[in-house]
Amino acid sequence: MITPILLCGGSGTRLWPLSRKSYPKQFVPLVGETTLFQASAQRLTGEGFAAPMVLTNSDFRFIVTEQMAEVGIDPGAILIEPSGRNTAPAVLAAALWLQARDPDGLMLVAPSDHVVPDAAAFRAAVAAAEPAARAGQLVTFGIKPDRAETGYGYLELDGDPGDFTPQVIGLERFVEKPDLATAEGMLASGQFLWNAGIFLFSVKAIIAAFETHAPDLMAPVQGAVDKGQPDLGFLRLDPEAWDGASDISIDYAVMERADNLAVVPYAGGWSDLGGWDAVWRESGPDGDGIVTQGRASAIDCADSLLRSEDDGLEVVGIGLKNIITVAMPDAVLVADASRAQDVKQAVSALKAKS
Ligand code: GDD
Ligand code: MG
Repeated sequence: MITPILLCGGSGTRLWPLSRKSYPKQFVPLVGETTLFQASAQRLTGEGFAAPMVLTNSDFRFIVTEQMAEVGIDPGAILIEPSGRNTAPAVLAAALWLQARDPDGLMLVAPSDHVVPDAAAFRAAVAAAEPAARAGQLVTFGIKPDRAETGYGYLELDGDPGDFTPQVIGLERFVEKPDLATAEGMLASGQFLWNAGIFLFSVKAIIAAFETHAPDLMAPVQGAVDKGQPDLGFLRLDPEAWDGASDISIDYAVMERADNLAVVPYAGGWSDLGGWDAVWRESGPDGDGIVTQGRASAIDCADSLLRSEDDGLEVVGIGLKNIITVAMPDAVLVADASRAQDVKQAVSALKAKS
């Protein structure tokens, strides 16, 4: 069986003022009817998949159960991290928990804040990856890059992705979050794909990879799982043991160091919604490039996103071009669309002021 491992501990500040530390973007309906978290769970439900495991923190635990119930999916387990230590300890905790229950199983690690519109195509890519994962490879999913993005991992192929039909290709090198010059070089070379942040591997192979490449995490995370406390259907990882785990992502802790990586190229559409510009793109702008969400309307506007809540402030744009407006009850963002990525800095500045 493949157990989906849904990671939902991040806070997504580039989508402020919608995404908040207390209610981040994965739990909000951003594109379509369901939330990104619900869509991620739905995508990984059905034949071949076990009930999903959710890795989250204490603040989000009831949002998780409520949103799973809304879409009729029973989580196999919900593990609560005492504090955010990034994705490496979270994935290792899931693997060690599964080791005692499904030692020969596979894990599909998936962020819960991405848009993957074609669920069938995605499952076909997972099916193509399965034999390699069973054979002990750590399989990544590769997206064709269209810009020198520095916020992603890059996968150097040792073959040709061809027409992007799902197939396993060897991986030369994994480079996490390169600087701009390096990213530009990789884009120009045509030999690299973006890492989608989704991984398929066996419980055995990932534990072995942690033992080799991040041995310091083993004792604290094993202790946190073994001494975890069941609580109202959740498993609370032991805080004292967890404290000993360092804060590191799986990309740095394992993927950059391992030599048993493979990639399945994926062409079925993917976005990590890393900003309001991406929300605009993924929401299907009309012929004038307009997206309105909630109580918002646009008169003689072009290439703009206007968003309010369904029961929120009335937002009206007149003659706007290239503008992002997002209204929440307590905060309004108005930005030039080309500056969408600067929202992150604005949030940091706000935090520093408060
Ligand atoms: N449970 C849990 N605990 N989840 C976490 C934690 C944590 O401490 N930290 C992050 N997450 C979740 C986030 O909510 C997100 O769904 C996922 O793990 C990935 O974390 P990000 O922080 O969003 O990673 P990233 O975007 O910087 O980079 C990763 O994704 C890129 C693609 O979007 C990497 O895998 C890159 O290589 C990749 O290109
Ligand atoms: Mg991300």
